[in-house]
Amino acid sequence: MKDIYILAIESSCDETSMSIIKNGNTEIATVVLSQIDIHKEFGGVVPEIASRNHIENITIVLDEILSKANMNIDDITAIGVTYGPGLIGSLLIGVQAAKTIALVTGKPLIPVHHIAGHIYANNLEKRLQFPLIALVVSGGHTELIYMEKDYSFKKIGSTLDDAIGECYDKVAKVIGLEYPGGPKVDKLAHQGKDNYNLPYPLDDKTYNFSFSGIKSAVINLVHNEEQRGNIINKEDLCTSFQERVTSVLARKTMRAIKEYHVSNLIVAGGVSANKGLREKLEKECRENNVCLSIPKIEHCTDNAAMIGAAAFYAYKKGIVADQTLTAVAVDNLYKYE
Ligand code: KG4
Ligand code: ZN
Repeated sequence: MKDIYILAIESSCDETSMSIIKNGNTEIATVVLSQIDIHKEFGGVVPEIASRNHIENITIVLDEILSKANMNIDDITAIGVTYGPGLIGSLLIGVQAAKTIALVTGKPLIPVHHIAGHIYANNLEKRLQFPLIALVVSGGHTELIYMEKDYSFKKIGSTLDDAIGECYDKVAKVIGLEYPGGPKVDKLAHQGKDNYNLPYPLDDKTYNFSFSGIKSAVINLVHNEEQRGNIINKEDLCTSFQERVTSVLARKTMRAIKEYHVSNLIVAGGVSANKGLREKLEKECRENNVCLSIPKIEHCTDNAAMIGAAAFYAYKKGIVADQTLTAVAVDNLYKYE
């Protein structure tokens, strides 16, 4: 088979990223231009500022990726792009760039769902083995997905309110940690003791999650202690918070593995970088003979390499778009059966 090289574009939030991926599993080169330093001072991503920065960055990133890979556009087989979900203004820049490159070169255009990208980040480490359960944990998503084969996604549970990454970022903010606070909470959680009596998140028979209760409990606790003039032990609070959210994530995931009779688990999305969650899942998977796959750290948070990996399998399935492709802020992954 002739090698397939996909030029992938990701701009759904505050990273302008492009990557060239060979045959869905080999990363030739990736460029990620992060805007974190710009958004930090606002305590979160400001959508309008993000899209303006994507406009400035997109052509710079295109030049950089081709020179880093030592390739030119004629070497590329197809263009893959995140069309959603995400920030609409940010997505539009990537989609417009992809459409323009496809139009000028006559190459196929492959629309990629952002979550499919996070899942296929694992294919860059090791070929996905089916059937599998995917735990998708990011700033915008918390979902348990069953996959019987490539590019077939069945949702079995999701968050009823906040996404886990969003919850981490809010907890970080209330104790004065800079955006994005998830990694900082994770670090402090390893330095404290589980001394705060926080409520456990929803732990029922379904595969759904709810994190707004524990988030509000942390916010109220911090405000009450501040009003009383007491000092919060940040390390202990992070430990108590992380212990509760990661144990419910791990417990429901392992239950899904048993009920769906699968022996492969993949974890995807920014929060898969979380050390506490990794430790729990590694232990459970070892004890239950489950093969666990977690992307390397740079493929956990948003990047175009994962979009290039997913685009390869979408392309093989015949998923291509024309010049009417547009970005969408909210979209259902589960239409791909
Ligand atoms: O997947 P991602 O880059 O963007 C979305 O698609 O949402 O995920 C970003 C999220 C942020 O909320 C960030 O705080 C969180 O992932 N995150 C972490 C860790 N590293 C990143 N949360 C907890 N622990 C971490 N180590
Ligand atoms: Zn993401």
